[in-house]
Amino acid sequence: MRLDERTRPDFPILERVVNGHPLVYLDSAASSQRPRTVIEAMGQYYARSHANVHRSIHTLGEEATELYEAARDRVQRFIGAGSREEVVFTRGTTDGLSLLAETLGRTLRAGDEVLITELEHHSNIIPWQLATRDRGAVLKAVPLRDDGTLDLEAFERLLTRRTRVVAFAHVSNVLGTINPVAEMSARARQVGAFTVVDGAQAAPHLPLDISLLGCDFYVFSAHKMLGPTGIGVLYGRREVLESLEPGRGGSEMIKEVWIDRAQWNDLPWRFEPGTPPIAEAVGLTAAIEYLEKLGMERVLEHERALTRQALEGLAAVPGVNVYGPPARTDRGAVVAFTVAGLHPHDVAALLDAEGIAVRAGHHCAMPLMRRLGVVGTSRASFSVFNSPDEVGRLLAVVAELRTAL
Ligand SMILES: Cc1ncc(COP(=O)(O)O)c(C=O)c1O
Repeated sequence: MRLDERTRPDFPILERVVNGHPLVYLDSAASSQRPRTVIEAMGQYYARSHANVHRSIHTLGEEATELYEAARDRVQRFIGAGSREEVVFTRGTTDGLSLLAETLGRTLRAGDEVLITELEHHSNIIPWQLATRDRGAVLKAVPLRDDGTLDLEAFERLLTRRTRVVAFAHVSNVLGTINPVAEMSARARQVGAFTVVDGAQAAPHLPLDISLLGCDFYVFSAHKMLGPTGIGVLYGRREVLESLEPGRGGSEMIKEVWIDRAQWNDLPWRFEPGTPPIAEAVGLTAAIEYLEKLGMERVLEHERALTRQALEGLAAVPGVNVYGPPARTDRGAVVAFTVAGLHPHDVAALLDAEGIAVRAGHHCAMPLMRRLGVVGTSRASFSVFNSPDEVGRLLAVVAELRTAL
């Protein structure tokens, strides 16, 4: 049985009819949909066990704490982290990257360098702009080659003894490019720089083993991987987390507080100020359980086939341009394209009229749009519930757009 045949009945939203057509949801890179088990787990938590965590001695407080901490164990196994202390819950990828830029930013001195890349999402650009600007440090970016991959020779040249942080996406949310995380992390370590990997478009789609990647930090969002909004994960290598002062404070991230100073809590709570996203952690556990039951190897294989079908099909439509590495290379589950004579927003609106949801615009990657020489693109992205028939429908409607011009 194909993966989508198995999964589709689990996603109630797929029963929706949009503009008179069955919904074809091709926007999982922006936010995926949720299986019933995730929705029910969160409802069940609120109906039976909700209380605040880590502070109440009563039964509900203990149940909530157990559920919240169980999510951490689940994430640890899912990403292959060495210990549960290395898993910090955040509000999402943007929040995790901001937390890191605030925290690592404090260690920067004037003239230090932070190296990002030209294909980053704004969430992995702006926090570093703020951090470097405040400290008199310098922000640089690794350029892209014309085939949509990073120029690794330029990366070598840009990496210097002054580089303190190298921050880059595992998978591009526009081009689908998969960056060589292990190779780049090893090189960054040689110059003594921290590596921060934005895994927002990787964690939902491929088997992850942090221990093989060798990065210091890895961040992602639950809502792109069948889980709820409002929670994300920040993996941090234990020795590095231990060595850092928290960038944000308050609530339960301390052991002892005096008016003029405080003693920090143990890892990972030191980096989790305030009431955390508890129901969302329960939902994330259910999402990971769901993905693990399917098997991440199978998820990767299924989405890779859909991506290839879309890339090859779109490239064959006259007037359509697709972006990123060629169809036969390893790519993430996104396909960005433009249709000659049509603004990407018009393409998305015309597809929506047929019940097909794609994203259009700059995809929060304006420097990349500039590099590609486009105002924006339309982007189809895939998840475990998408079928080859749905990709076929996208291709058929895009082909009609051209003939209607
Ligand atoms: C590569 C990448 N980084 C960061 C983000 C931001 O994620 P979030 O909005 O969940 O914080 C996204 C989501 O669009 C993304 O695709």
